[in-house]
Amino acid sequence: MSPTRNAHAPSVSDCKLLELPKIHDPRGNLTFIEGGEHTPFPIQRVYYLYDVPGGEVRGGHAHKSLQQLIIAANGSFDVVIDDGRERQRFHLNRSYYGLYLPRLIWRELDNFSSGSVCLVLASAHYAENEYIRDYREFCKTVDALPTK
Ligand code: TYD
Repeated sequence: MSPTRNAHAPSVSDCKLLELPKIHDPRGNLTFIEGGEHTPFPIQRVYYLYDVPGGEVRGGHAHKSLQQLIIAANGSFDVVIDDGRERQRFHLNRSYYGLYLPRLIWRELDNFSSGSVCLVLASAHYAENEYIRDYREFCKTVDALPTK
C-alpha cells in the first residue's frame, strides 16, 4: 500500500448519510425518493434484504463502478464501510435516511434487528463481474488507481 492516499480513490468521507423527504401524517408517514434528485445517481435497480437471521452478515465486497443508497426501510442494522485505509460504522435505524456509497467502498452489513428490511437503490443493473469479493484485491485495486 502506498504511504500517501491516491487522490482519486473514494474515501469513507465520500460516504454520506442523506436525509430523505418525509411527509408527516397522522395516518402514517411517507418518504419518497426521486432518482437523480434525492440520489446522486439515476436509479437503475432496487433490491432489498429481509428475513435476515440474527447474527448474520451480508455484503463483504466492493463494486468497481456501482453507486448505492442503503436505507433501513424497517428496523435497523449497521453498515461498516472501508476505503482500504479507514473504516467507519454507521447504524441505520430511520426510514428517512439513506447512506450513500460511491464506487470502490468495501461494505459489510451486520447487527440486523428482527424484521429489518434493507432497501438498496443502485446506479446500474446487477453484474457479477462488477463485484470485488476479495478484500486484498480491493486494496490493490484502490492503490492501483491512476493518480491523474
Ligand atoms: P450479494 O450482492 O452478494 O448479496 P449481499 O451483498 O447483500 O450479501 O448477492 C447475493 C446473491 O444474489 C448473488 O448470488 C447475486 C444475487 N443478486 C442478483 O442476482 N441480483 C441483484 O441485484 C443482487 C443484489 C444480487
